Amino acid sequence: MERLRHLMSPTDFTVEELDHLFDVAEDIRKNMADYAHKCDGKILATCFYEPSTRTRLSFESAMLRLGGKVLGFADGSNSSAAKGESVSDTIRVMSYYADICAMRHPKEGAPMVAAEKSLIPVINGGDGGHQHPTQTLTDLLTIRSLYGSLNNFTIGLCGDLKFGRTVHSLITALTRYENINYVFISPEELKVPSYIKEMLKAKNIPYKQVTTLEEVMPDLDILYMTRVQKERFFNEEDYVRLKDFYILDSQKMKLAKEKMFIMHPLPRVNEIAVEIDDDPRAAYFRQSEYGVFVRMALILTLLDMTDEHMNQGLLRHPGDM
Ligand code: NCD
Repeated sequence: MERLRHLMSPTDFTVEELDHLFDVAEDIRKNMADYAHKCDGKILATCFYEPSTRTRLSFESAMLRLGGKVLGFADGSNSSAAKGESVSDTIRVMSYYADICAMRHPKEGAPMVAAEKSLIPVINGGDGGHQHPTQTLTDLLTIRSLYGSLNNFTIGLCGDLKFGRTVHSLITALTRYENINYVFISPEELKVPSYIKEMLKAKNIPYKQVTTLEEVMPDLDILYMTRVQKERFFNEEDYVRLKDFYILDSQKMKLAKEKMFIMHPLPRVNEIAVEIDDDPRAAYFRQSEYGVFVRMALILTLLDMTDEHMNQGLLRHPGDM
């Protein structure tokens, strides 16, 4: 019997497993109708203790497009968390209401604590400033599809590299691929945390840190923009000072390679001028679209319902834990 599997970090899957997941996501993109009933009778719970548009709704869209149903809450203050219930107790009960759960929480590690008591797969939908593995799966699929490979490129990560969990997750995942050059573009106060730099040093992976976009723009194959994470700041003054530090506009885009493409996990605030949206190099809305395909593939994988398991029925069992 297979063990119950959760997704806490993008490296919970091997590179080979990720390749397979992305193949499934690509197949879904091309043959969506074939997947319309794969999850008939299954239920996804979304337990979101922090605001979200794309992550929660793309999970819901993914399950609905697979023929399943969804339930959950979008705000911890409307759940029993407001009465003091722990995530462990909540997930225990959710295990009887649903077959799989996506959870977002402001506390780092909370989805992991929940997973320990869960009878169903738990997916980390973002835990504080720590990790955001399903955004990373979305980002990797986008790079694989648009750039054509997950190896051999220069990526610039720009903005709030200190608090941005999408950046932390993406760098962690990319260290398993070959010949990637990292350029970290941030103000002094929002530099990438030292544990990320230690991880790169330990693997002998070079990186560069700069403060202006202009000085590195011509070198980049991919520019990953991020918003300054207002909710993680301790004081409003610092946020106001830093929030418009980078604004990508058509003037700066003149310095970029013709084939460089721009990613952003969204939501965007001011860091990308709307005039860029029609530039063929702007990939951020396509990225959101890929997020649905990859979450569909992930739900099927964690429920053991990708094709090789389809005929064997549900392998999960409470006794497998
Ligand atoms: C990101 C997040 O929640 O970390 N958004 C997302 O899930 N697409 C990025 C952000 O909020 O800035």
